[in-house]
Amino acid sequence: MASSYKKIYKATAVSPANIAFIKFWGKKNPKRNIPFNDSISMNLSNCITTTTVEFNPRFRSDRVILDGRELKDEKKFRVLKMIDLVREKSNIPWGVKVESKNNFPSDAGIASSASGFSALALSASVAAGLNLSLKELSILARFGSGSASRSVIDGFAQWNKGKNSNSSYAIQIAPPEHWDVRDIVVVVEAEKKKKSSTEGHTVAPKNPFFTVRQKLLSKRIRNIKNALLKKNFKKFGELLEEEAIELHIIAMTSKPPIFYWNKGTIEVINKVREIREKGILAYFTMDAGPNVHVICIAKDAKILNRKLRRIPEILFTIINKPSVGTHLLKKHLF
Ligand code: PMV
Repeated sequence: MASSYKKIYKATAVSPANIAFIKFWGKKNPKRNIPFNDSISMNLSNCITTTTVEFNPRFRSDRVILDGRELKDEKKFRVLKMIDLVREKSNIPWGVKVESKNNFPSDAGIASSASGFSALALSASVAAGLNLSLKELSILARFGSGSASRSVIDGFAQWNKGKNSNSSYAIQIAPPEHWDVRDIVVVVEAEKKKKSSTEGHTVAPKNPFFTVRQKLLSKRIRNIKNALLKKNFKKFGELLEEEAIELHIIAMTSKPPIFYWNKGTIEVINKVREIREKGILAYFTMDAGPNVHVICIAKDAKILNRKLRRIPEILFTIINKPSVGTHLLKKHLF
């Protein structure tokens, strides 16, 4: 029986960026984004990507639009690689339109690839009629960008490196309401970063210090997870800084060396240490970029933010709470 009903293959998802407390740095299997070590993160309430995906037999070509600009480069290729995985799983051969918006600067080391690829994984899979489990969603997001595997989880997540593609995905350590901490993202540069994390992942395993790092990690992971679960902020913060500095030491001593820090980064690090000496507990970490994430207890966020914004190199700050992970939205972008 002919029906006038036409199913619409369209869905919209929202997803947070995340800050890694223990970092993913170095890929055991670069094609499948399988890491050398487990990583731990918190989702960020105010660094968000919204993505709408539509599959339609009338679309003659695949289109990807990010923040109002049609993509034609490597980024479009990465998006379409994930779309192709979804097409393969769902047997949908049609053209696609992807539109995506960030509420924070892309490519500045605020993990826009994590929020971007996790939002894409959910919107594309739902648009294609797939009903993925959380584990399957984390794995699909991982194919786009390793850190995206953690953004699908509510609150605090651990990405277990696993033994193969099927066992390398993120799980929850604690829900967002577990710990009332804040991440003040201190933006000292909002331009596209000069060295991508992909380049960093490629050179890291050849660095002689990388083996030392891998040896130190299992104890650090255990300890930071414990501090997080017991809400021991001082212990947590000390391990957080140790881990951040170590990642950048690996980057700086790789061949060729990668320097993500700039003058503003150092100013913020110094300020955090100075503030701490005066009694406010705050600790820093950075991902693959110059911007600094200052982690503090909720009650200290306002005063800390005011102090940090007095540093001349600072462009702006974004205050984040622990957030839920990737979820669907009824309202589409187009
Ligand atoms: O997910 P990628 O390939 O962009 O790598 C992320 C790397 C870091 O942000 C530095 C660490 C992490 O675990 O998020």
